[in-house]
Amino acid sequence: MTSELFKKLEGIQAVVFDAYGTLFNVASPVDKLASTIGEKSIAVAKLWRQKQLEYTWLRSLMGVHADFWTVTREALDHTLESYEIVEPGLADELMTLYLKLDVFDDVATTVAALRAKGRRCAVLSNGSPSMLDSALRHAGIEKHFEHVLSVEEVGVYKPSRRVYRLVLQKMQVVDAPSICFVSANSWDAQAGAQFGFQAVRLARTSVVADRIPGKPTAVIDSLGKLLELV
Ligand code: LAC
Repeated sequence: MTSELFKKLEGIQAVVFDAYGTLFNVASPVDKLASTIGEKSIAVAKLWRQKQLEYTWLRSLMGVHADFWTVTREALDHTLESYEIVEPGLADELMTLYLKLDVFDDVATTVAALRAKGRRCAVLSNGSPSMLDSALRHAGIEKHFEHVLSVEEVGVYKPSRRVYRLVLQKMQVVDAPSICFVSANSWDAQAGAQFGFQAVRLARTSVVADRIPGKPTAVIDSLGKLLELV
């Protein structure tokens, strides 16, 4: 059980959301094709996500960038081969579903309520601009975000400080602590906090915090609770 750390954030000028895992359920493509994939589907979803993130970190360290669409496909190919799944057309179908990921139930209402309170909202994600555009439109929530920021602008992945710095540059905010950064990926929330944001870790499942620098200001177990913090 994740213990909640509930502290009202002061001096916030804008709320910036991570996308994959935070707004969108990255397991939904595999869930939808579970009958084709079979009993290994939960393991497939897990390894696909793990490899996708690993490849972003490896490429960033290697200095060989490729966009998130490429990395996501490479992670999927590795995963299907690892589980010896040979099913013509399956990988293409899963990738197509990645453009129409399920949005978590609490997202649309929370973001709309933040906008109604006059909050500036944005997205900061590893996703390529076209992937993000597609997922946000499919979910019908694109209108709430004044900026959709992609790592493609800097050619390196999270948790590079260059990525978090994009928020300040593009949103013309001077001080990092004026940004509330929300992520369900613990390492991302922690790295955002280390950068200087007031970070909120969304513990959708009881995942233990990573042992890396950076301490979120708040930990919540559903996105709706954000409305009490900012
Ligand atoms: C993103 C990753 C962390 O959306 O999934 O940036």
